[in-house]
Amino acid sequence: MELDNKARSEQRTQELTDDDRNFLRQVVETSRAEHHGRLSYMDIMFDLEQHYGNSLPAPVLGEVARLVGTSPAQLNGFVSFYTMLSTEPRGKHVIRVCTSGPCHVSGAPTILASLKETLGIDLGETTPDGEFTLEGSSCLGICGVSPALMIDGDAYGNLTPEDLPRILDAARSGGAK
Ligand code: FES
Repeated sequence: MELDNKARSEQRTQELTDDDRNFLRQVVETSRAEHHGRLSYMDIMFDLEQHYGNSLPAPVLGEVARLVGTSPAQLNGFVSFYTMLSTEPRGKHVIRVCTSGPCHVSGAPTILASLKETLGIDLGETTPDGEFTLEGSSCLGICGVSPALMIDGDAYGNLTPEDLPRILDAARSGGAK
């Protein structure tokens, strides 16, 4: 079960519960089983972000570091290397607008400006209702349909500002159909 916003913010300052520890142990063991005894840190981090509201609280990373036999500093280094991962609180849905060259020349600045205006936030910010966090991103790997963005795991391309209300509504109601 995913945590609600209140539980997420409490998670950032509180000690881990037994349920947390059991959940984290299960995530690590599942990764180990799926990768024939090895671990996929990225799979683990995605599972944790999904559970803890699109962010990775320090107590959670500390416990995972212990479980996988590394140091919290090394795990933090891994997390900070990938812009799609965050230790900071984020909204229920993370919008990542590609700002790399092909998307930039095909209209990403206009898409970004429309999103900022519609949501009333700047890059790196979260809407007051906790629904959306807006982030820039390097190439999302779908340059053929630039300009492009991703919301959570859903990719959208060939965007115009007129597409954005429909896409935001889709995210609010559970993602692309
Ligand atoms: S440059 Fe935007 S998806 Fe590749």
